[in-house]
Amino acid sequence: MFNLFSGIIQAMYYYIKTYGCQANKAESERQAGYFEQLGLRPTDDWRQANKIFINTCSVRKAADDRALSLLDQMQAYFHDRPRAHWPEVILSGCMNRYRDRLQKRFPILTHIQGVGETNFAYPAKRQDKTQAFIQISYGCNSFCTYCVVPYARGREHSREFDDIMREVTQAVSDGYHEITLLGQNVNSWGLEDVTIGQRKLDFQADHLPSNRSGYRPYTGLPPFVELLRAISSLPEVTKIRFLTSNPWDFYPELIEEVGHNRKIDRYLHLPVQSGSDTVLRRMNRGYTAANYLKLLEQLRALDPDLQIGTDIIVGFAGETEQEFQATVDLVKKAQFVVAFVAMYSVRPGTVAAKIYPDSVPYQVKKQRFEILDQMINKDQLSIRPKIV
Ligand code: SAH
Ligand code: SF4
Ligand code: F3S
Repeated sequence: MFNLFSGIIQAMYYYIKTYGCQANKAESERQAGYFEQLGLRPTDDWRQANKIFINTCSVRKAADDRALSLLDQMQAYFHDRPRAHWPEVILSGCMNRYRDRLQKRFPILTHIQGVGETNFAYPAKRQDKTQAFIQISYGCNSFCTYCVVPYARGREHSREFDDIMREVTQAVSDGYHEITLLGQNVNSWGLEDVTIGQRKLDFQADHLPSNRSGYRPYTGLPPFVELLRAISSLPEVTKIRFLTSNPWDFYPELIEEVGHNRKIDRYLHLPVQSGSDTVLRRMNRGYTAANYLKLLEQLRALDPDLQIGTDIIVGFAGETEQEFQATVDLVKKAQFVVAFVAMYSVRPGTVAAKIYPDSVPYQVKKQRFEILDQMINKDQLSIRPKIV
């Protein structure tokens, strides 16, 4: 860079570290877009950066620990340097709920921002060459008892249809043919005003949400199906993916759409979390193992080649051997191609942290993790899809 008055001036650099899920990655892409508009260049070395953006995850304790360790290193490094030379350090993402404690422990932090505060006004600097990741909703209203997301990301909020379509159209004109829609519950898009409790109950009672006894949280098609159709109608779009879907919002029309709309990827991510009805109840998941298996059956009836992947938590809140075996049984029946298996980690502030003792020993959690990981992820390597 050249400056008329001072001659050569130094380039300014930004550094971004992203932990956690695709939602965070998408937000970091927007933050990168913003930094680039300011004229900054990316660097892989935070010591060299003028602006640092740390996008945190808090889903398990291990995720917290990773970001804390980076912050420890930064604090130690910059501590000995004059404050005037400290970079601007912004912390974002799901650890922002520890705001006060973080600010106290790490004076290096310039600003802690809430989830979703990243600037939408600038085009995302997309990292992936084939898939454009587009957020369609933020937050979560589901309150699964183990999960920090509703507290960390706040209430569910669907992005406007026109706004989403504008970003899709922009991605298409930038040369993208594959669109990946992101949200904690993509298939409840547009339905946040309908109580989640009612939707979960409906799923349990009828096996699938339907137009039963006058209860129908939408008129015409479910909003998410309308969105899928609108995106599929663009000739340049060849593939649509979405994550994550929740079983209780898998309406019959969505099953049909997944079955018949071949622009939708043949890999579907559908977290089950457990195969035990008693554990599912303690988790407040709102379905039984039978509900979930029935959903898979209906999906596969329309496309036998559909590949299903899942998330499972082992060792949740006193999970007994018998309860774990119910998950093993479900796994045998479900034929998952991949599973993200996690050992339960207590998250302060959640309902589970308040009412269920975390009584399964670490060694038992580990054994259960190994059993499922082996069954699902290692015994059938040849058919594992590439997951984003
Ligand atoms: N909205 C997504 C999940 C987001 S969190 C959904 O409902 O499917 C991603 C995954 O992290 C979850 O599916 C769950 O398997 C895991 N997870 C969430 N909280 C956890 C906890 N306290 N301990 C262990 N794993 C957890
Ligand atoms: Fe929401 Fe449950 Fe998913 Fe957590 S696991 S993000 S509470 S649906
Ligand atoms: Fe982590 Fe928050 Fe995503 S807790 S998994 S970054 S929603």
